[in-house]
Amino acid sequence: MFDKNKTLVIGCDHGGYETKEFIVNKLKEFGYKVNDKGTYSEESVDYPDFIHPVAYSIQTGEYERGIIICGSGNGAQMTANKYSKVRAALCWKNELAELARLHNNANILALPGRFVTNEEAWEMVNTFLTTSFEGGRHQKRIEKLSKILK
Ligand code: RB5
Repeated sequence: MFDKNKTLVIGCDHGGYETKEFIVNKLKEFGYKVNDKGTYSEESVDYPDFIHPVAYSIQTGEYERGIIICGSGNGAQMTANKYSKVRAALCWKNELAELARLHNNANILALPGRFVTNEEAWEMVNTFLTTSFEGGRHQKRIEKLSKILK
């Protein structure tokens, strides 16, 4: 369960703007605090410009949990996963969001704004914020993520 005393960080490009607005409003309605890094309109932008600040704030430990949204979710997820402490999971159905927490201890939820309804996105956000990491054998596996071959 994400502690509502802590703040969530969120960012998107124009492809995720409508979803992001819906999610931010819902989060506030349900008592969550949100740092919205933009974008703030449907004007075309480059997704890395808005995803880097979210991922960096997770990397530095300023925030523990983030949400990123672009049209497909791929560009946002790819950007965020450049950061060693980020585990961003691209999800388009609720079960994936659940597994991303249970097995991968995802700290960023990446959503494809153009491929999910606002209600589906909100369901995934809820799952992302209320599902705990199982640990155990999955802890060992996420520790191996950074063991890239050279
Ligand atoms: C923007 O048109 C689109 O390319 C972007 O939102 C995202 O889908 C990129 O991965």
